[in-house]
Amino acid sequence: MIDLICGARPNFMKVDPIIRSLSEEVRLVHTGQHYDYSMSGSFFDQLGLPKPDINLGVGSSSITVQTADIMKAYEPVFVQGKPDAVVVVGDVNSTLACVLTAVRYGTPTVHVEAGLRSFDRTMPEEINRLLTDQISDLLLITSSEARQNLLREGRPDDAVVMVGNPMIDTLLRLLPGTERIQVPEEKFGLVTLHRPGNVDNRELLGRILDSLGALAPMHLVFPAHPRTLKNIRNWDLQNRVPSNLKMVKPMDYLSFIRHQQKAEVVITDSGGVQEETSVMGVPCVTVRPNTERPVTCTAGTNVLCPDPLEIPEAVRIQIQKRPDTPPVIPMWDGKAGARIALEIERILK
Ligand code: UD1
Repeated sequence: MIDLICGARPNFMKVDPIIRSLSEEVRLVHTGQHYDYSMSGSFFDQLGLPKPDINLGVGSSSITVQTADIMKAYEPVFVQGKPDAVVVVGDVNSTLACVLTAVRYGTPTVHVEAGLRSFDRTMPEEINRLLTDQISDLLLITSSEARQNLLREGRPDDAVVMVGNPMIDTLLRLLPGTERIQVPEEKFGLVTLHRPGNVDNRELLGRILDSLGALAPMHLVFPAHPRTLKNIRNWDLQNRVPSNLKMVKPMDYLSFIRHQQKAEVVITDSGGVQEETSVMGVPCVTVRPNTERPVTCTAGTNVLCPDPLEIPEAVRIQIQKRPDTPPVIPMWDGKAGARIALEIERILK
């Protein structure tokens, strides 16, 4: 039996193709890191994921407490279930907490989406990635530069296998069914911002909002993450929300991918969105000084924009550079889940 771990919004579309491809028995463990219907339940419904076998129900707290809470809650579940392997995806607190629990028992561990590096240790996800990759037995990567990162950190070459990008499996499976979902009739840009580096700093968040206002008359749709919304409210930044920016609740997965596909440009600080826009050939401006997904800049449609003041110019250039046909990125082909399942089953033998 395999424990497959998920916890936060970006995990659900990555575990989906794995669970669909594995022939081994799977126990789906949800840590409860995200718990609102809009951040978790709606994804299970739309993806057709089975209900989690176990929900640890940890909820929100500081990064340290959340990570510790997940470990405390997962250990007895792990000991009772005696899984033959533990599979984690991505770089959220749930990823590190569960792999760190399993490794103490000598159980084989697998990290899907290994080797991504922003080289920015102020990002909680970078710490989660570094530590998860140091202690996982099998490192499954989505793009070739991840191998160099892992080898540089002393991980053995034969532990690293290129499998492609499971999040893209889910995108390619479900996008064709979204045609009837309503999007704005006029041209629009789509905005997502939730990184602590951007939204936990009042000054910076205010400057980003001003800069989005400078994109008028372009309409912008902004499904705001709870963290971002909370900060805008707490810091009285509502009056800095420009009139061309329409703040809406977090979107369900199908609405969100449809909005991405139809957007003139996407402005984001998310990791997964950089990948999804690249595959769809939609221009993307990433409001960050770095990315752990450089392939989206070299082969995809993404550009980094560290200075909020530069957003309007970056948007203009990216729209001009919109490709006629979507870029092709090696192994982002909708078949990553099958390759991941093969590798997991191989280490169980
Ligand atoms: C987490 C991940 C981040 C990922 C993001 C996607 C870590 C370190 N970060 O960040 O990599 O890109 O998920 O969304 O794991 N909240 C709710 N409802 C929920 C979940 C959260 O209201 O269902 C609120 C809580 O007030 C919480 C805050 O959002 O304090 C942040 O949630 P948290 O899970 O701590 O981190 P994210 O910012 O979502």
